[in-house]
Amino acid sequence: MLLDGKVVVITGAGRGIGREEALLMGKLGAKVVVNDLGAHFDGTGASAGPAHEVVDEIKKSGGDAVANGDSVSDFKGAQRIVECAIDTFGKLNVLVNNAGILRDRMIFNMSEEDWDAVIAVHLKGTFNCTRHACVYWREQHKVGDVLNGRIINTSSDSGLLGNPSQSNYGAAKAAIAAMSFIIDREMAKYGVTVNAIAPVARTRLTVEATPATAALMGQGTGEGEFDVFNPRNVAPLVAWLASDDAADVHGEVFRVGGGTVWAMQGWHSAAKVQQRGVWDPSALGTKLKTELAKGGTRKETMADVFAGGL
Ligand SMILES: NC(=O)c1ccc[n+]([C@@H]2O[C@H](COP(=O)([O-])OP(=O)(O)OC[C@H]3O[C@@H](n4cnc5c(N)ncnc54)[C@H](O)[C@@H]3O)[C@@H](O)[C@H]2O)c1
Repeated sequence: MLLDGKVVVITGAGRGIGREEALLMGKLGAKVVVNDLGAHFDGTGASAGPAHEVVDEIKKSGGDAVANGDSVSDFKGAQRIVECAIDTFGKLNVLVNNAGILRDRMIFNMSEEDWDAVIAVHLKGTFNCTRHACVYWREQHKVGDVLNGRIINTSSDSGLLGNPSQSNYGAAKAAIAAMSFIIDREMAKYGVTVNAIAPVARTRLTVEATPATAALMGQGTGEGEFDVFNPRNVAPLVAWLASDDAADVHGEVFRVGGGTVWAMQGWHSAAKVQQRGVWDPSALGTKLKTELAKGGTRKETMADVFAGGL
């Protein structure tokens, strides 16, 4: 099987996309640390239930898994998540940073707490788990144990394209995409790859926290029809990126939803104005307005993605 012998940590794997990733990777032979705080979608509260339910499901279908209830936003907690894999299954091969919360507000209504909570789970949580895993892989590499480490981070169109009312979340998700290709360059020499996904799926975060997006996704389909927004559709890409077969895939960002996977590209120059000498501000403005009017810098929007179909 694709992931035979691999030990995988998936954060936020008690529900939604992480749960589907855990179930599929368990089926494909991986031993899975199912991390989940069991929080409400805004990050409040905690429950051991969701992580244990996923562990039970994996075990029922013949796989091996263990639950962990630490919060990814706690630096020491993240260390315990990584240690849980090593203590339980003897090593760590794959880290999927997936845990997430939402606190959508327009910028003028956003409290300091809403900002900090979202940055703590997404951006700091991704840093925390990644940092502990990379220390471990570098140490193992030094003693000749090359573990073909894999990190699959979870970004979002909210950060790659922009979505009003999500300046906290989008900023974290854009930074996670950037972190992915930066840390990939740092860790490539230790046999580690770092890639990111930007999923599109009907989960608690879309249904409960972003009703406008949920409305675009509908209620699901009838028996036997392909439900493009089922979170199950995201998991195959993550399973493949975790495998030895994806050893040469470095620092990529993929949008994934339904049966579609898009290879994404980030900031790059799209137009320029130039002269040999210091610009007069008004003359520069005139040239820039002419250039912008050509439309070459128009950015893809989330509405374009839905209009294009999955
Ligand atoms: N659903 C989408 O369309 C979509 C789009 C783009 C990105 N994402 C991202 O996908 C990831 C999964 O989200 P989902 O849609 O499955 O939502 P979800 O709410 O179903 O699952 C998120 C899980 O993360 C857990 N969690 C929250 N805070 C945690 C913490 N501090 N430590 C450990 N676990 C914690 C929650 O308990 C929950 O089980 C998130 O990073 C989200 O931002 C989702």
